Amino acid sequence: MSKRYTITAALPYTNGPIHIGHLAGVYVPADIYARYQRLQGRDVAFICGSDEHGVPITIKAKKEGVSPQDIVDKYHAIIKQSFKDFGISFDNYSRTSAKIHHETASEFFKTLYDKDEFVEEVTEQFYDVDANQFLADRFIVGTCPKCGHEESYGDQCEACGTSHNATDLINPKSAITGATPTLKKTKHWFLPLDKHESFLKQWILTDHKKDWKPNVYGQCKSWIDDGLRPRAVTRDLNWGIPVPIEGAEGKVLYVWFDAPIGYISATKEWAEREGKDWKTYWKQKDSKLLHFIGKDNIVFHCIIFPAMLKAEGSYILPENVPANEFLNLEGNKLSTSKNWAVWLHEYLQDFPDKQDVLRYVLTANAPESKDNDFTWKDFQARNNNELVAVFGNFINRVVVLTNKYFEGKVPSPNQLMSVDIETLAKLKAFPGVISSSIERYRFREASQELINLARLGNKYLADEEPWKVIKLDEDRVKTVMFVALQIASALAVLGEPFLPFSSRKLKDILKMGDNSDHTWDRISQGLELVRAPHVIGVPELLFSKIEDQEIQIQLDKLQERKNKNTAEAKQLDPQKEAISYEDFSKLDIRVGTILSAEKMPKTKKLLVLKVDTGIDVRTVVSGISESYSPTEVVGKRVTILVNLAPRTLRGVESQGMILMTEDTNGNLVFVSPENSEKGVNGLKIS
Ligand code: MF3
Ligand code: ZN
Repeated sequence: MSKRYTITAALPYTNGPIHIGHLAGVYVPADIYARYQRLQGRDVAFICGSDEHGVPITIKAKKEGVSPQDIVDKYHAIIKQSFKDFGISFDNYSRTSAKIHHETASEFFKTLYDKDEFVEEVTEQFYDVDANQFLADRFIVGTCPKCGHEESYGDQCEACGTSHNATDLINPKSAITGATPTLKKTKHWFLPLDKHESFLKQWILTDHKKDWKPNVYGQCKSWIDDGLRPRAVTRDLNWGIPVPIEGAEGKVLYVWFDAPIGYISATKEWAEREGKDWKTYWKQKDSKLLHFIGKDNIVFHCIIFPAMLKAEGSYILPENVPANEFLNLEGNKLSTSKNWAVWLHEYLQDFPDKQDVLRYVLTANAPESKDNDFTWKDFQARNNNELVAVFGNFINRVVVLTNKYFEGKVPSPNQLMSVDIETLAKLKAFPGVISSSIERYRFREASQELINLARLGNKYLADEEPWKVIKLDEDRVKTVMFVALQIASALAVLGEPFLPFSSRKLKDILKMGDNSDHTWDRISQGLELVRAPHVIGVPELLFSKIEDQEIQIQLDKLQERKNKNTAEAKQLDPQKEAISYEDFSKLDIRVGTILSAEKMPKTKKLLVLKVDTGIDVRTVVSGISESYSPTEVVGKRVTILVNLAPRTLRGVESQGMILMTEDTNGNLVFVSPENSEKGVNGLKIS
């Protein structure tokens, strides 16, 4: 088995902070995997960094009226800090604006250029005459030629994941001005994927048919079956890495060309710092390269980047690309632009000591083989019912009882009974079972096995009832607590990849220190982790209950954002034709009070109101019955147009009109005169 792992996690775009979708799809599984491999004694380089080029960043900068550099500086800092606070154990978190990356990417391009691995071609590209620029990638939107999605970007459709050339789009529009673009000739360098077709077919469709996830394999197959075509790896943009050859002034590398090379640059930066040789992680045949990504990144990591590495010639290729599906939030697609997300940096503010709860929930409910939904209710339930009631409860019983009966000393076992032997045999099997799940990228399954180990401990204590036996047979209780303490300490060791903060805390409670003998292997061999005369610490809560009230705050926060989005999305009626002041002054609008209200029989919408207008009491028929019950409106102060010509509705003469508007949820509400002179009806509105 390989001893060296180069583990990469998709470089996040620095046009916004990290949210739970990124975490569940990429960073939590990658971190579990990296921590797990380190615990097995493997040599791990866990690499990530900020993806700071590309059109989304320039669009964001334009929107905020700042420079692209300002945008990437701002988000790089937020992202880097939030990963650190969340316990993502990157060996290096770099950024693609770093000098070392510009050098590495330029050199990579030059190598391929010198090897004649590119096709140079002048083609017609979309151009926005008003904006005076070429429209690459996200600067252009149109209908996806593959799935018909109407808002596909120039380089990729987010609905079906297809990556295409901008000129393939149906009905293209400039994302800058909305104009239909013109075509203009420009020279670019293309990576001829068609030339690598037979290699890719063999490598993916034959060699990796069995070990890649079905979703990953399926996407690759469909891409290859559609026929591979040359892909431009340069762009007419001014934000990015300049194309390092003559005759390419004003052009930069395509962001999807430079970003994956960022994995290499970040490894170099780390190796330099640590006094290692980066090449062993990228060029030595016995190193395993793994890319953790979300499903929208599949073609880039399985087809384009491997073709680049192959064309360069001296690199290893990824062993596996365990891509996840997407996570939704409370039934809706996560969206940075709509602010529909749980942002990591905000979560860490609201739940500063609950990193492991989010890590656990996102793992237990990971979108491994299909899209999944995150809900705050499920978050609360998993914390309260699994982490607190199962894991935490078991640990607490073990620590409390050991302190109570033996002053915290780990007792030596006496004669083992069959239940003890069986329980210890079951414990022995856990490292193997959890390893096997992790090595097959089944992190959900692995996390549930961890909880099952705590369940095993709880059941053992419940069956053996040391709290009853202690009165009759202290020797028996010594054996029971010894067995329970082995399970508790194994939970600390096996839980580390999933719950690193709690694992640390548990090791501290059990006073296990940082013993390098505390390995998964040792547990598999049935050797004890703690034994007499070791003394454990005092009880401390490992997990704490999350109350309804805390969840409600989060739900309210989301509801507020939803309201804001609906309000913004609402199509407002255009302004009516201008009227003269004379026309306006004809309106007699007053403040009134509703004295009584009744439903108009056999109608859904109408209420018959009696309104005190200050000058008289009159009848108004109003179409608000779907929003208000009669009792609700009695006593309400309203604005009323009193000189509207009377109209008869269902036999009732309506003598005026009450002014209404909509609130942020789209409900009808009264235009409120609450600010007018208290209680005085009949005041004119002017
Ligand atoms: N920034 C891309 C995204 O968020 C991922 C880039 S991964 C890399 O979708 F390989 F290009 F680095
Ligand atoms: Zn599509």
